[in-house]
Amino acid sequence: MKKSSFSVFFVIMGLSFGFVGQAIAQVAQVIGERIVRFDRSHEARHERKPSFALQHRFESLGDVGLDKLLTVPVYSIDPETGRTVASIAIDSGTSLYGTGQAAGPLLRNGFVTETWNFDAFGYGLGDPNLYTSHPWVLAVREDGSAFGVLADTTYRCEIDLRDGITFRAEGGDFAVIVIEGNSPQEVMMGLGTLTGTIAMPPKWAVGYHQCRYSYNPESRVREVVTEFRNRKLPADVIWMDIDYMDEYRVFTFDEEQFPDPKGLNDWLDTMGFSNVWMIDPGVKDEDGYFVSDSGDAHDAWVKDKDGNVYNGNVWPGVCVFPDYLNKDVRKWWAGLYEEFMAYNIDGVWNDMNEPAVFNVESKTMPESNIHRADPELGGTDTHARYHNVYGMQMIRASREGVMATNPDKRPFLLSRANFIGGQRYGATWTGDNSANWAHLDMSIPMSINLSLSGQPFVGPDIGGFAYNGDGELFQRWMGFGTLFPFSRGHTAKGNIDKEPWSFGQEVEDTSRRALERRYRLMPYIYTLFRESSKTGMPIARPTFFADPADPALRSEDDSFLLGADLLIVTKATPEGDRVSVMPRAVDGVEWAEFDFPDFDSGRDSKDEHLPRLFIRPGAIMPSAPVTQYFGDRPDSRDELTLIVHLDGRGIAQGIMYEDEGEGFGYLMGEHLTTAFYAEETQSEVVVFVRAIGGSMSYPERVIDARVIGSDKPVRVIVR
Ligand code: NOJ
Repeated sequence: MKKSSFSVFFVIMGLSFGFVGQAIAQVAQVIGERIVRFDRSHEARHERKPSFALQHRFESLGDVGLDKLLTVPVYSIDPETGRTVASIAIDSGTSLYGTGQAAGPLLRNGFVTETWNFDAFGYGLGDPNLYTSHPWVLAVREDGSAFGVLADTTYRCEIDLRDGITFRAEGGDFAVIVIEGNSPQEVMMGLGTLTGTIAMPPKWAVGYHQCRYSYNPESRVREVVTEFRNRKLPADVIWMDIDYMDEYRVFTFDEEQFPDPKGLNDWLDTMGFSNVWMIDPGVKDEDGYFVSDSGDAHDAWVKDKDGNVYNGNVWPGVCVFPDYLNKDVRKWWAGLYEEFMAYNIDGVWNDMNEPAVFNVESKTMPESNIHRADPELGGTDTHARYHNVYGMQMIRASREGVMATNPDKRPFLLSRANFIGGQRYGATWTGDNSANWAHLDMSIPMSINLSLSGQPFVGPDIGGFAYNGDGELFQRWMGFGTLFPFSRGHTAKGNIDKEPWSFGQEVEDTSRRALERRYRLMPYIYTLFRESSKTGMPIARPTFFADPADPALRSEDDSFLLGADLLIVTKATPEGDRVSVMPRAVDGVEWAEFDFPDFDSGRDSKDEHLPRLFIRPGAIMPSAPVTQYFGDRPDSRDELTLIVHLDGRGIAQGIMYEDEGEGFGYLMGEHLTTAFYAEETQSEVVVFVRAIGGSMSYPERVIDARVIGSDKPVRVIVR
């Protein structure tokens, strides 16, 4: 590992001469393995605000001298703005990533982003702030070693990567936490330790989701679902956007269009579809409406600076906004889900929770508004302080409500606004993108940078939200969108239909192949969810994770890894002519292209609209026959096909995690972890299959193995 003498030099300069105007006497304490927290001074440490990012307090394990550390931020105060500044010098050859939801390329060197959750409909390249806030940078040094830097502040914070790493935050002093790692993977696991990981979702949520703004009335929901099944397009979830509500009043149903939501959800169950329904934070301010009245009674609303209830306009007109920073309010809000979930609702979508406000230029509530936050969260203070965590605390409260109602089910929640650490409460998508090539292109690095910021359960609106687009764009987007951790098609009101069949036969066929790939890969993808929930490792990863020391991979935007073993090479331009940089061969063995031999029966050429799939040398990936949804078992046979790519020594290995896909038995050991080991001998390839963990019994199972590039007979031995 390399010592960054430059950073230390910087510190010494800062200490002896005063850096940008102010004396610096920063202090550092160890809070975890290779994790250090810095404060600007002893006083700043003493007065440090509670963290929303960290999953618990992280007491100090002892002070550490700055001279002992590889990466040290230098604090200063910007004389013009009064903002606290923390700068970290980087060695040349260091590549920067993360910063949350960034519109632009994967490599973030040279860019400036800002944390300020924003209703960014129609966003474009270079917009500095979008829906979520992640004041975090992952830095990968030339030699492949890495560090991550978290500016632990909820306030508006500029992340300037034009010359090293600089955070400039409003709201006074903030702690900076540095995680060191021998690799970016190690840093990501450190971030998981610090900020928490996703909870294991229900397995249906790992399937494909179909959405639009909106499927209404309910007969349209039934129609879409029936088409999916008739056309044998695998899918697990259908979404109900705002038009199901009675004039956008949250927790109500439009009696004409959705007269029997429970009946609809029960019917969806029989079709193998799970359901997700939207709930927004803006509550119609109206006497006689039960949410408004009970919120009044609980004194639940955010107040303006003079102590009056704050009003802002959203979908239902004049609204009031729950103060999710307050424990009693969260409890009240959580309680609203009891009746709601009783309509056999499976999942919840919290939207517009930046919070979005229509009738003001800032598109959100005034920064001077007042939140009565719990003392542990920091106590009563302004919206300027709590704006970026408003959505996070909303989804936290919603999750508590969903879990209290269905304690035996795994919750699934999607939130538009969030904050670093918010992966603990739910998934995120990339908001209102547009149906054009720039957005298709951007959707890969944006999802990956969110993954590298601690939010692995992420994906874009496949097909693009705003505008129509065309069949070519749609099928390309389906091609790789079905391989994102969160995979959902969505489109805005007024647009043409955008179901997989809406653009004709060719697009439907491509979409089916894309969906079938996801469902075939389900054993592998589900295993990645488990890994992520335990360690914080991203599910979708940048290609450079294959070889962090290879500088050629550092700005690869068109391909990404799913886990460590599967490389997805997309065509992100209309011409499909951009060439992706491939990872180097490992011990002389290249990553091998593969596809499912029978996914395309009857055709002899590959579908050019689909991304190319490559497997890592030395990997074994489990795959299963296509199902139409989680729980669909056409012929009760349990089959597995192992995709094997031997390394230079003639060996390959893999792992598979299984559980019930629902409930919490897995936390008590009710799961099954199976290890695969393949070895090439003179005459054959032997694949050993062995249960290595969990109390679920090993099922009756037919296992087939395809060894890529080998003609030798394959023998599978289950032990
Ligand atoms: C904005 C969300 O980003 C979008 O996905 C949704 O369809 C609309 N709100 C309507 O609820």
